[in-house]
Amino acid sequence: MLVRTHTCGQLRESDVGATVRLNGWVNSYRGHGTGLVFIDLRDRYGLTQLVFDGEDLPGDVMETADHLRNEDVVAVEGTVRVRTGGENPKLPTGKIEIEVSRLEVLNKTANPPFLPDDLAKLPNEELRLTHRYIDLRRPKMQKIMQARHRLAKVTRDYFHENGFLEVDTPILYKSTPEGAREFLVPSRNVPGGWYALPQSPQLFKQILMIAGCDRYIQLCRCFRDEDPRADRQAEFTQVDLEMSFVRREQVMEMMEGYIRRLWREMAGIDIPAMSRMTYRDAMERFGIDRPDTRYGLEIADISEIASRSEVAFFKDALARGAERPRFNSKRGVVKAIRVPGGAEKLTRKITDGYNEFARSFGAGGCAVVKVNAQGQFETGVAKFLEGVRGDLTAALGLTPGDTVLFVADEYAVCTKALGELRQKVARDMGVVPPPGAEGGPWNFLFVVDFPMFERNKETGRWVAMHHPFTAPRDDQAQTFVEASVDDEVTIESIVSAGYDIVLNGQEIAGGSIRIHDPKVQSKVFQLLGLTPQQAREKFSFLLEALSFGAPPHGGIAFGLDRLVMNFVGTDNIRDVIAFPKTQTGADLMTRAPSAATDEQLREVHVRSTWTPPAT
Ligand code: AMO
Repeated sequence: MLVRTHTCGQLRESDVGATVRLNGWVNSYRGHGTGLVFIDLRDRYGLTQLVFDGEDLPGDVMETADHLRNEDVVAVEGTVRVRTGGENPKLPTGKIEIEVSRLEVLNKTANPPFLPDDLAKLPNEELRLTHRYIDLRRPKMQKIMQARHRLAKVTRDYFHENGFLEVDTPILYKSTPEGAREFLVPSRNVPGGWYALPQSPQLFKQILMIAGCDRYIQLCRCFRDEDPRADRQAEFTQVDLEMSFVRREQVMEMMEGYIRRLWREMAGIDIPAMSRMTYRDAMERFGIDRPDTRYGLEIADISEIASRSEVAFFKDALARGAERPRFNSKRGVVKAIRVPGGAEKLTRKITDGYNEFARSFGAGGCAVVKVNAQGQFETGVAKFLEGVRGDLTAALGLTPGDTVLFVADEYAVCTKALGELRQKVARDMGVVPPPGAEGGPWNFLFVVDFPMFERNKETGRWVAMHHPFTAPRDDQAQTFVEASVDDEVTIESIVSAGYDIVLNGQEIAGGSIRIHDPKVQSKVFQLLGLTPQQAREKFSFLLEALSFGAPPHGGIAFGLDRLVMNFVGTDNIRDVIAFPKTQTGADLMTRAPSAATDEQLREVHVRSTWTPPAT
């Protein structure tokens, strides 16, 4: 083989006259059958133009060159010369070409199902994933892989400089709850025993702190058997870390430094000091714990004004749980969003859709009012709001041309419905910037002071809002330890020492200060409905470790894939993973998951209960 002396992105005018060898893929060809063949040769580093001249080359070489097609893999030897047909200013190698003297075909391709051409229309994703090796040849995908690599490198550099140790933790693991369904792996050696793949290395990193590691980091793979979404995969990567002898402030400071370093090195951007928002504030103003603050459309609580209106369903909602505390999830409220300019842009058809949309989140519907040129209300419930029009106009800052959207329901339902609706309205109004737009905007936010617990909607049981190892905020610990597990109001009011990092409405990281007192940990397990025996069975190793000298500790994990998405400007997580899975969790290239033989199943003591559907 003619082993390469240079890559396809390397040669310049200063190399003119040199004899070189290049290896790569045929990216394009011109001039077949004319006695002069031009090939653009491609590799990861770029493109170089090759010229085969029938006047100088033996007939058999010309014959082979004449039959080269896109994606053939070739090696050539030749002389660098100034381009005879004029410079191509778009290419770094655009001033030169190679006058080929020797050609070797290393692999003749079958007819490719598509070409790795960023300028051509992309084939459907199924085809791209089935032949991922062709898709990954596209310069855009090559850039994404390089960005991912750089991000990993900057991450390791930053944490290394700050004294963190990279420690590997097991993939075959014990089943522990973090909220999602787990992937199970049967054991051959222990009949009836199962490993779980880690949803995250949460407990191992805590144990590492108890083991005196002090500062831990890992770029680790996590597995959660949940349905994939645009920014969610069943198998994804975290930048996972943990620190000893710290309080919330120190972890947050370290994280802010990391983000600043990443954006500086990856995008050349200096991030201003990151702002903070409490969970309550986020829910009140944006209806979601990961608010996108790139646009307004804030939610306002107009319960008091609504109580003086003639709208029957406002009053019905307000009557519900009126005696409960202000933020209680079951208290009735009326909330509204002012949409500036909505009267023109949001057609009747669109706003009718909002009613259905709000219903899909459990709300009774969404009432719509338009503000006309005289400042009067039109449509729907307008006439029932006449008595409070002045107050509403002042409270919401209404001006002609606005649309106002109202939802009345229990606090939790109303907040959720309007939080979702706000995002939909923003898309409909065209006020959401595209993902990772050059130069931002980059709206970072620490969200803090989450409730420790919330009720699971289906089971009605308490669940940990972050995970069961999250500590109460310092000033809450005493109240929590003393609270009776039946004291619903107190339990719901306990605030955790957790924190999330939100970027443009996406949760890019989540973490907390952990419980390091076994008594507090046992109380959490009790509240979550585990008997002392169940807690011991599942978590004896943790409770034991906590009793043998556990330092106060805390940490966080970033979604590495999501970070990369922001830098390369995509809203599809599959774009930033070399070999991602589809919506159904399938790897289309290798055809996983696939059937196991009876013998394989016998070996691991498993019998399948699945029967193929009758055809
Ligand atoms: P959490 O579950 O919040 O915390 O995950 C941390 C971050 O990981 C990313 N992430 C995902 N990315 C892609 N696909 C998924 N399915 C997915 N799930 C989560 C998000 C998220 O913010 N052990 C804790 C961390 C800690 O407390 O230190 C944990 O895993 O960006």
